[in-house]
Amino acid sequence: MSPKATLNTLRQLKAQREKFSCLTAYDACFSHFISAAGVEVMLVGDSLGMVLQGCDSTIPVSINDMVYHTACVARGNKSSLIMADMPFMTYGSPDQTLKNAAKLMQAGAELVKLEGGEWLNDSVSRLSDCGIPSCVHLGLTPQSVHKFGGYKVQGRSPEAAAQLLREALAAQEAGAAMLLLECVPSSVGKVVTEKVDIPVIGIGAGPDTDGQVLVLHDMLGLTPNKPAKFVKNFLSENGGSIQAAISAYHHAVKNGYFPSEEHGFS
Ligand code: KIV
Repeated sequence: MSPKATLNTLRQLKAQREKFSCLTAYDACFSHFISAAGVEVMLVGDSLGMVLQGCDSTIPVSINDMVYHTACVARGNKSSLIMADMPFMTYGSPDQTLKNAAKLMQAGAELVKLEGGEWLNDSVSRLSDCGIPSCVHLGLTPQSVHKFGGYKVQGRSPEAAAQLLREALAAQEAGAAMLLLECVPSSVGKVVTEKVDIPVIGIGAGPDTDGQVLVLHDMLGLTPNKPAKFVKNFLSENGGSIQAAISAYHHAVKNGYFPSEEHGFS
């Protein structure tokens, strides 16, 4: 079994220019498979609203839903670092953020993830002061889908790319332990990863981020909708074995075979 991954493991991997993998997990059964494959980070994503609950977006997901699924994942985990999403409208102020982050940490999370830009920084600082590490999710932040008018690539213009880099540096300065970049041009994923010292996970952010994440059900081909450009089905390539598919994903990320250019945005 792999040694237990911590934030220090990810920092060390970044320093050595080695990659790490991340998958979403929502229950003890898949948590067991994912941690057995050596995947460094498991994200209890609010994508569970769409994947498990059949909603159109992540907006209906509640803090109680997240606490329940985080506890399930924690019970199945052996060696991965568990990150849990703070759902919609649970982190509007530093006090509210701290109260809800504490619930996720007590359920078994080791790090919480929040979506947004500079407006988050007071909350990120408060979490860090209180010993709760956080990951700031930038780029396409799905809880803001209605503001964006759909699930669209972000950071495409030079101004938007510069703003994204400013937000990344400000989040680091505020005490964020990690960043997650979703659906941004590969060039933006590369620049942000080079400019910050903290580990950066990408999804649809090109091959150059320190880590990669996919939604588990997407990489197993279990979602009914047409997969996004950045998704690859690892189950069909691995004889229908879930354990083999997860291991193949982990090794493809670690060795830089996934994502390739075809999975990124220009
Ligand atoms: O909720 C989730 O699964 C996520 C990933 C898309 C990164 O935030």
